[in-house]
Amino acid sequence: MSSQILVIDDEKNYLLILETILGEEGYEVTALNDPEMALGYLDESEVDVVITDMKMPGISGHQVLEHVRKNYPHIPVLIMTAYGSIDGAVEAMKCGAFDYISKPFSNDELLLSVKKAMMLSRSEQEILLLRRTLVEQHGPHKLVGKSRPMREVLKMVTRVAQSKSTVLISGESGTGKELIAKAIHYSSPRRDGPFISVNCMSLSSGVLESEIFGHEKGSFTGATAMKKGRFELAHGGTLFLDEIGELSPDLQVKLLRVLQEKAFERVGGSRTIHVDIRLVAATNKDLKAEVDKAVFREDLYYRLNVVNINLPPLRERREDIPLLVAHFMQKLSVNNEHNARKFAPEALEYLSAYEWPGNVRQLENVVERCLVLSARDTIGVEDLPSEIKDEEAQFKSAVDLLPIRLELAGTLEKIEAALIRRALVKSGFVQVKAAELLNISKSLLQYKLKKYNIQAR
Ligand SMILES: Nc1ncnc2c1ncn2[C@@H]1O[C@H](COP(=O)(O)OP(=O)(O)OP(=O)(O)O)[C@@H](O)[C@H]1O
Ligand SMILES: [Mg+2]
Repeated sequence: MSSQILVIDDEKNYLLILETILGEEGYEVTALNDPEMALGYLDESEVDVVITDMKMPGISGHQVLEHVRKNYPHIPVLIMTAYGSIDGAVEAMKCGAFDYISKPFSNDELLLSVKKAMMLSRSEQEILLLRRTLVEQHGPHKLVGKSRPMREVLKMVTRVAQSKSTVLISGESGTGKELIAKAIHYSSPRRDGPFISVNCMSLSSGVLESEIFGHEKGSFTGATAMKKGRFELAHGGTLFLDEIGELSPDLQVKLLRVLQEKAFERVGGSRTIHVDIRLVAATNKDLKAEVDKAVFREDLYYRLNVVNINLPPLRERREDIPLLVAHFMQKLSVNNEHNARKFAPEALEYLSAYEWPGNVRQLENVVERCLVLSARDTIGVEDLPSEIKDEEAQFKSAVDLLPIRLELAGTLEKIEAALIRRALVKSGFVQVKAAELLNISKSLLQYKLKKYNIQAR
């Protein structure tokens, strides 16, 4: 692939010189003396580097620079300035020019700068390509689920992605919170920017602070070099604060300040840094309850909870289970073997009726385990892990979950609820049929559905 350079200068002599020097080095040069036409050319052609004169009639080099930075941020811009007009060059650098050369320049000077710009351009384009791949991998279209609660969640994701509002994603462990955070980022206008995540649980308070805010060289023993924090790295993109409920009290204060002032300092630093980020936080805790217990700051809670997306547990959207199973079969199978393999309808029924305390992640693990451990094309009930096929075990674990003082009533209710769910699944969620299976009236079934808070579509 040849390297394309667009040169813009109102002086035709200069265009000719540049065309010759660069052409001899093997670059493909398009030389235009009309800046307006040059901007049009950018829209239609692949350009790797732009070289532009500063002072031109009509559109100035500065405007060209701004246009490229805004519309083609991956294309480096080299500015040419007349001898002595350093101020303009400095200004251009501040506005994001890659470099400047003052006229008259030597061939070597020009070629060195172009070569560096070309290298940057290549890596910027590679990053852009990788990000597009990420969009493809993590966009909302990758979220599996057709149940009413999931459709609601997806609607929220699409709506909220367009805004810059802070989002708090809540939901039990394994419900897909991280997946949703990524879907928001990769369907937002910032999708070409970075998605940076921080797990607030995995690090101790001190380490976490320098992870988030960065540190200056020498700010503590071991800080041998300046390090940018995740807040800075997320500039122009999304910062995902996972397990936000685990944030220590002192970091809660610091985070609140950043959210209020949209600025911070690195640890041990005094320079205030401003960043443009969209914040998404996730928690499997009931944050409001943490606030009531005074474990989590109320002011921070309200700052984070601008938009709340609550992910329903899998047991409340059972109709998504067969879809997810198919999705994971496809994802986990090698060499298209999934075409030949499937779960027997009976086995799928068991999967659909199970409680899934570990939610989607647990389902994914179970599908994987079945694929690995069973050699059969059709995976049957006998291939399922015991916690799923063994209803005895389910009821036993339900008993184990009860407090020391066993309550017969509670246990029976659990069993009754489980039976009702099995019947619903078996009857394809047709309530009349489920009632028939259970040998009760439809109205009694409906009463019990309400009582046990069972979703029946
Ligand atoms: N709707 C979905 N479609 C496809 N895959 C999903 C869906 N929801 C969850 N998953 C998958 O389930 C697994 C768990 O999801 P994720 O890590 O996002 O959950 P989480 O809520 O962040 O869990 P935790 O609270 O334990 O961190 C991942 O492998 C994810 O790809
Ligand atoms: Mg997670």
